[in-house]
Amino acid sequence: MVLFNTCCIRENADQKLYGNLGHMKALKDVRPDLRIVVGGCLAQKDKSIIQQRAPYVDVVLGTHNLASLPRLLREAETGPAFEILEQTEVFPSALPARRKSGWHAWVSISIGCNNSCTFCIVPSVRGVEVSRRTGDIVSEVQELVADGVVEITLLGQNVNSYGRDLDGTPLFAKLLRALDRVDRLQRVRFTSPHPKDFRMDTVEAMAECRTVCEHIHLPVQAGSDRVLKRMKRAYTRKRYLDKVQMVRDALPEVAISTDIIVGFPGETEADFQETLTLVEEVQYDSAYTFQYSPRPMTEAATYGGQVPKEIVQERYERLTSLQDAISFRRNQRHLDAIEEVIVEGPSKKDPARLSGRTRTNKLVHFDSGPAPEGSFRTVRISKVHPHFLEDSGRAFLRAGAQAPVLAARRRTSGEATCSSCN
Ligand code: 5AD
Ligand code: SF4
Repeated sequence: MVLFNTCCIRENADQKLYGNLGHMKALKDVRPDLRIVVGGCLAQKDKSIIQQRAPYVDVVLGTHNLASLPRLLREAETGPAFEILEQTEVFPSALPARRKSGWHAWVSISIGCNNSCTFCIVPSVRGVEVSRRTGDIVSEVQELVADGVVEITLLGQNVNSYGRDLDGTPLFAKLLRALDRVDRLQRVRFTSPHPKDFRMDTVEAMAECRTVCEHIHLPVQAGSDRVLKRMKRAYTRKRYLDKVQMVRDALPEVAISTDIIVGFPGETEADFQETLTLVEEVQYDSAYTFQYSPRPMTEAATYGGQVPKEIVQERYERLTSLQDAISFRRNQRHLDAIEEVIVEGPSKKDPARLSGRTRTNKLVHFDSGPAPEGSFRTVRISKVHPHFLEDSGRAFLRAGAQAPVLAARRRTSGEATCSSCN
């Protein structure tokens, strides 16, 4: 069986799927017993189109009925089985998962999205927001930790509105505190909060919870108020900058990353300049930068003023080179610092070295003897680059597995601060 779990957020994913399905056709001709399954957002979006363009696909399932896969595979014995549900009322119960990593796990806390950003296809293919019960999340995390997981990443389209559909109030800060009490859990990350819903309660929980890492992904999308309004992001540049200040006041060492779209319909050079000045002002640690692509079922796809490709490309390059310089500058703050990393495995560039990640989500390549994935090492940063850090000395094993606290990070909780001192 070959299963394509698809994404349709940007255009190139569509092209990739149909290219891959073409290759599968040749394989299926020589191996008729091969089962081809397409699931995920693109299946939800394209529904019957997949059937028309690739009639040899055996099973198509949408985003809300992953659990039906075994039944659909049985049905496919007698002919193609297609099932797409428009919406789910309750959070689908956790399915048994085969995890790639023994030490890290992704944990879904909600599905769907109630926002209506005009560029985004997610609400049409993922439906309205449905939160998972806190008790179910905590139980899953306890089981994961019992299996050796030390780091989790909480997933939701808008984690800060987690819980609103359960009892009317956002419960994300409470969830962070509940997870912080899980014994032997070392690191909690989450992605992504929507800036409009990111409030002090979450920042306070981040500062208080030993497990919550000093990193926040706060997608800004654009720096101009005019563009933000046309995107229906529900915040202004000023309100966004205030949120950045709020988190930095509480967690001075926090690393901030973002998503930015270049070439949104009607974006002028003056609007783009405002994105550049915002990037300068915030000094992001890193940014995921995207060229706008019109998506079906979205409002922005109907807007006039689509920006020509060459202009988008040229703006995109200016933005990425500015961000690279800023990332490099931000990384220089780590020079000579002693940092704790979790070992992710051999470095992709040089398998004789190891790679690990700091609590601030910085990738570090370092020399060390063999070390199991998921173990902790302490490194001294001796060289920095825009996208990674290096320790060219020998990393040493830290006794115990308690995460050290970064300098002055817990201002709101009033804890004594110690840290990367040596
Ligand atoms: N075009 C380009 N980028 C997009 N994103 C979402 N929709 C589009 C689109 N139509 C980007 C946003 C979002 C990230 C996951 O993908 O920046 O935060
Ligand atoms: Fe898309 Fe906006 Fe929802 Fe994020 S918050 S998933 S960008 S609609």
